[in-house]
Amino acid sequence: MVTRSRRTAGGGELTSVREQVAAEVAKVVVGQQEVVDLLLTAVVVGGHVLLEGVPGVAKTLTANALARSLGVEFRRVQFTPDMLPSDITGTMTLRGRELTFRPGPVFTNVLLADEVNRTPPKTQAALLEAMQERQVTVEGEPRPLPQPFVVVATQNPIEYEGTYPLPEAQLDRFLLKVDVGYPSEADEVAVLRLAHAGVDPVTLDDVQPVTSARALLAARAEVDATRVSDEVTAYVAAVVRRTRELPSVSLGASPRAAVHLLAASKAAARLEGRDFVTPDDVIRMAPPVLRHRLLLRPEAELERYGPDDAVATAVAAVPVPR
Ligand SMILES: Nc1ncnc2c1ncn2[C@@H]1O[C@H](COP(=O)(O)OP(=O)(O)OP(=O)(O)O)[C@@H](O)[C@H]1O
Ligand SMILES: [Mg+2]
Repeated sequence: MVTRSRRTAGGGELTSVREQVAAEVAKVVVGQQEVVDLLLTAVVVGGHVLLEGVPGVAKTLTANALARSLGVEFRRVQFTPDMLPSDITGTMTLRGRELTFRPGPVFTNVLLADEVNRTPPKTQAALLEAMQERQVTVEGEPRPLPQPFVVVATQNPIEYEGTYPLPEAQLDRFLLKVDVGYPSEADEVAVLRLAHAGVDPVTLDDVQPVTSARALLAARAEVDATRVSDEVTAYVAAVVRRTRELPSVSLGASPRAAVHLLAASKAAARLEGRDFVTPDDVIRMAPPVLRHRLLLRPEAELERYGPDDAVATAVAAVPVPR
């Protein structure tokens, strides 16, 4: 391992982390490489991810397997309608005659917030506040969350009764929104070959940790050190600003979105073994970074012009620096 990472030192360690993580996840998840790459992108910049997809496309399985392969502390919370904010953040409890803090599940490195749109706004807000502040305040006392801290939230795009869609303002806190789609025909057949016993999923026990919290923080330093030219920086800003001018869009991407787009582009460059960002990195990361932050006008939605179309229009309208 050591010699291998030395050999790739020019491009950094992240390419080998990527390969190893992908190999571990592939033991239980067929395909979905793009999803795994994007999850890893978020983890190395300390950003949060929203995974959206219809039931049964392995959202939970992929998030579980990825977290396990990272070798960091991992918790999963199944969000339900009766959940309270303190079920996320923690509570003060009486131990003997002393009040002590019992930390909630947010005190972890990777939190899988499963079916986040099934819980009422108050509890969602507690999670989203922790995501933004990287700390929680219980009984007036702020308590910092561990590092790294990454939330992987899943949601189902079909709004049925008893769901609470996340408000736009809170969606902005997710670095990436990843749409998990149906597998290809070949992959679907391969899923069947993986079938384990009856309808039980394959076991996650095969997934081995290939990194650590320390290694991930080191990877973040590597990403931070990725070079970005003035031209590429200006390009990121121009693409984001362009989303605010589209006639089909009533709310464009925020300055936070621009910060997120640059960070994700740096991570994307590193995952490919480069120490500088190209306009192509920006173009590739624009859909997952921007799609959930755009509010479309009702007319656009009627014409089946969706957020990804708006992102594509914005990208196409800005000249690519060379
Ligand atoms: N790409 C895949 N590779 C391996 N197994 C898969 C894949 N896609 C679906 N499956 C199978 O489907 C099952 C359901 O996956 P999972 O529970 O992760 O779906 P989900 O997207 O979280 O669904 P829900 O929205 O209902 O929570 C898995 O346990 C596995 O048996
Ligand atoms: Mg699930």
